[in-house]
Amino acid sequence: MISHKNDAALAELAAGLEAWSTQAQWTPARVFTRFLPLKNHERVSPILRSGDASLPITTVVTEAGIRYGLDFGTGYSHGLFLDQRANRAMLKTLRPKRLLNTFAYTCSFSVVAALTGAETLSVDLSRKSLDRGKQNLALNGITAAGHRFINDDALDLLPKLGHRGERFDAIILDPPTFSRGNNGRLWQVEQHFEDLMLAALEVAGPTCAILLSTNCTKLNPTVLERQARGCAKIKRRTTEYTRTAGEVDFPPGHGASTLWMMVR
Ligand SMILES: C[S@@+](CC[C@H](N)C(=O)[O-])C[C@H]1O[C@@H](n2cnc3c(N)ncnc32)[C@H](O)[C@@H]1O
Repeated sequence: MISHKNDAALAELAAGLEAWSTQAQWTPARVFTRFLPLKNHERVSPILRSGDASLPITTVVTEAGIRYGLDFGTGYSHGLFLDQRANRAMLKTLRPKRLLNTFAYTCSFSVVAALTGAETLSVDLSRKSLDRGKQNLALNGITAAGHRFINDDALDLLPKLGHRGERFDAIILDPPTFSRGNNGRLWQVEQHFEDLMLAALEVAGPTCAILLSTNCTKLNPTVLERQARGCAKIKRRTTEYTRTAGEVDFPPGHGASTLWMMVR
């Protein structure tokens, strides 16, 4: 999938892919291109550039032995965020017992945690994404028991979980930059991430690993850490911070800014 903002970028990326696949002696079965417009309503579905057009638009990929469904026909996101590879690997090593995956999308973090024996709760505003998440669990032979999916606004749900006494030892916070939540409420990560961190700390168990992740370039890991330290102080929790190594295919300034907040 080549994502591009203009024709010049598409030409450069396509030439790069061609040079690399010649060198690696590897021919991709299919190549799709996707135009990234400035405005959401101008988004269009990806276009098949090369390969067999008669193949289904969906496929299954494997990362670290785990299977995920992709759908190249769904417009903006095809189902798996590659810049979260190191964080999925990190979650696997943490082996949580109870994962809260907010803004879960297709639930890749839930699949990873479920495979190491965790109970999971996946929350997303999009029912369709959660359905794809359920399919991802099933693709990996995980049965439904111990895995919950809640179609709700994460900001509304977190306090309810807190009041019910639910506690987690791993929490994923990977919200979009902008969104319209329940009741048309506007979510802007730059303004609201600290509220989300404070709400997450209310459901953090005695020890808890919280992934802080955003595509907003203004919230780099240094800013995220400063905000997280402030929230931990308000909630009187001791914290340490761990950064996963960047991905070679996402050089600095590309991909999500991420940071693990380890609560003790
Ligand atoms: C950046 S994606 C999350 C990616 C996911 N963490 C992963 O690695 O696959 C953002 C998701 O947040 C969901 N979303 C947006 N606003 C929301 C809200 N207020 N509450 C819950 N989910 C929301 C969107 O439907 C979308 O699936």
